[in-house]
Amino acid sequence: MSNIHPEFHRFLTRKDKEILLGQRGLVIWMCGLSGSGKSTIANAAERVLHQQGRMTTILDGDNLRTGLNANLTFTDEDRLENIRRFAETAKLFVSQGIITFVSAITPRGELRDLARGILGEDLFEVYIQASYEACEKRDVKGLYAKAARGEIANFTGKDSGFEPPLNPDLTLDTEATSIEDATFELLEAIRDRLTPV
Ligand code: ADX
Repeated sequence: MSNIHPEFHRFLTRKDKEILLGQRGLVIWMCGLSGSGKSTIANAAERVLHQQGRMTTILDGDNLRTGLNANLTFTDEDRLENIRRFAETAKLFVSQGIITFVSAITPRGELRDLARGILGEDLFEVYIQASYEACEKRDVKGLYAKAARGEIANFTGKDSGFEPPLNPDLTLDTEATSIEDATFELLEAIRDRLTPV
């Protein structure tokens, strides 16, 4: 590290980028069980913001795990590295003024603390709440059936723990709320955070 010299002062600033885009950057971090609705809500919210002329992106667990994070498994140690890379990548995007959705299970408090440490005030934490049983019933990707057959090691909520967040900025219960209503609620909650000051 001692021979590394990060350069920031000569570069265009985040403010320059935000003025260009006419928005403020924010990281909307969606955590919750597989199949809880994280990516579905992120996708719906992104489309509305895009329509409104906002610059957005989505960092999705399944997608990043086929590229940047392809060498990581689902052990506690690898999940920590997975989330560190998510947070550092989100930091690069938000520093360009981009509204960045993260869709990752982020199953433990320690992982969310790590993300908070990297992103600070730029992090807006959303808990996408749905019980294991509800996600198992939906089983969009067929993973719950596989886990029940013992074919997936360290499956979240089964043999790898999930700690619900204690203090999220927003909780969306997808068992009680439709995707449309949850998306609307999310967009209302972040609206003021996106408008330029
Ligand atoms: S995290 O726990 O490290 O945040 P991440 O969101 O990147 O997880 O990846 C979760 C996705 O990987 C799930 O949506 C699912 O499609 C897939 N997956 C494969 N194996 C597992 C497993 N053992 N536990 C949870 N999800 C898994």
